[in-house]
Amino acid sequence: MTQRAPGSATVAGALRHAATLGIDRLDAQMLLLHGLGRTPHDRAWLLAHNGDALDAAAQSRFDAARHRRLRGEPLAYITGHQEFYGLDLHVDARVLCPRADTETLVDWALGLLPPAARVLDLGTGSGAIALAIKHQRPDVQMHARDFSADALAVARTNAQRLGLDVAFSQGSWLEGLSGPFDVIASNPPYIAADDPHLAGLTHEPLEALASGADGLDDLRAIICQAGERLKPGGWLLLEHGYDQASAVCDMLRRSGFGEVQSRRDLAGIARCSGGHWTGT
Ligand SMILES: C[S@@+](CC[C@H](N)C(=O)[O-])C[C@H]1O[C@@H](n2cnc3c(N)ncnc32)[C@H](O)[C@@H]1O
Repeated sequence: MTQRAPGSATVAGALRHAATLGIDRLDAQMLLLHGLGRTPHDRAWLLAHNGDALDAAAQSRFDAARHRRLRGEPLAYITGHQEFYGLDLHVDARVLCPRADTETLVDWALGLLPPAARVLDLGTGSGAIALAIKHQRPDVQMHARDFSADALAVARTNAQRLGLDVAFSQGSWLEGLSGPFDVIASNPPYIAADDPHLAGLTHEPLEALASGADGLDDLRAIICQAGERLKPGGWLLLEHGYDQASAVCDMLRRSGFGEVQSRRDLAGIARCSGGHWTGT
C-alpha cells in the first residue's frame, strides 16, 4: 500500500504532494485525471474542483499511478493514451510511445502523396504513422507492417477504435511484400546497442529501439530492400537518430535514390532523411 501524505485528500492536495515528489505538474494532472476516470482534456475540471475531496478509489488509483511514474514508466503507458497527429492512440508496454518528432515524417509523406496512393508504414508499432496518414488522406491504400505480433495487436485495436481502414501484416521489413508503393515511410529502431540512452528506456520494448552496433542495421536493411517495392519516382522516408543523417543519406544515394534530402524535427535537428527511387 502507498502511504498517503497529509493534505493529499483534495484535488489541490494531491497535486501539491506529487510536486513535492518531483513529478512534473502536467504529468501529475494527467495522472490525477486518470485516477478520477476523466479524459486528458479535463484539466479545466481540475482547476474548477481544486478543493474537492478525492474518494478512496480515486486516491488509490492516483497513488498507484504516481508510484509507477516515479519508477520511470512513461506517462502514456500509465494512462494508456498518447496523442499523435491529433489522434488519441491507445498505447501500452507492447509498443513504443509515439513521439511528437515523428509527426515530421508524417508531414513529409502527406506532402508527397498522389491521389489514391499506395503507402507502406514499416515498423508500425501503435500504428501511429499509418493511422495519421490514413486519417488525413482517406483516399490512400494504407498498409502497415511490424515484426511484433504484440505491436500489431495494439495497432489493429487503434485502427478499429478510430474507424480507419488499414491493412496490417506481420513480417520483417519488406520480405514477402509485393509493391509497388508510392511512398514507404518508416521509423525503425536506430539506437546503437551500447548507447547509454538505452539504459534510461527500460519500459519500452528493446526490439523497437536498438539496432546493432552502430544503430544502422535496420535502416540499412530497409534501404537495401525498398527500391524494388517502390514505383519509379516513389519515395522512401526514414526517421533516424540525431547524428545519423549523413550516414543515411550516403546509404540512400549508394542504393539508387535521388533528390536525397533531410528534414528537421521540432528541435531543428535533421531527424528524417529520404529520397525517390530512380531505378525501374
Ligand atoms: C521505433 S519503433 C516505431 C513505432 C512507430 N512507427 C512509431 O513511430 O511510434 C520501431 C518498430 O519497428 C518494429 N520492428 C523491429 N524490427 C522489425 C522488423 N525486422 N520488421 C518489421 N518491424 C520491425 C518494432 O516492433 C517497432 O514496433
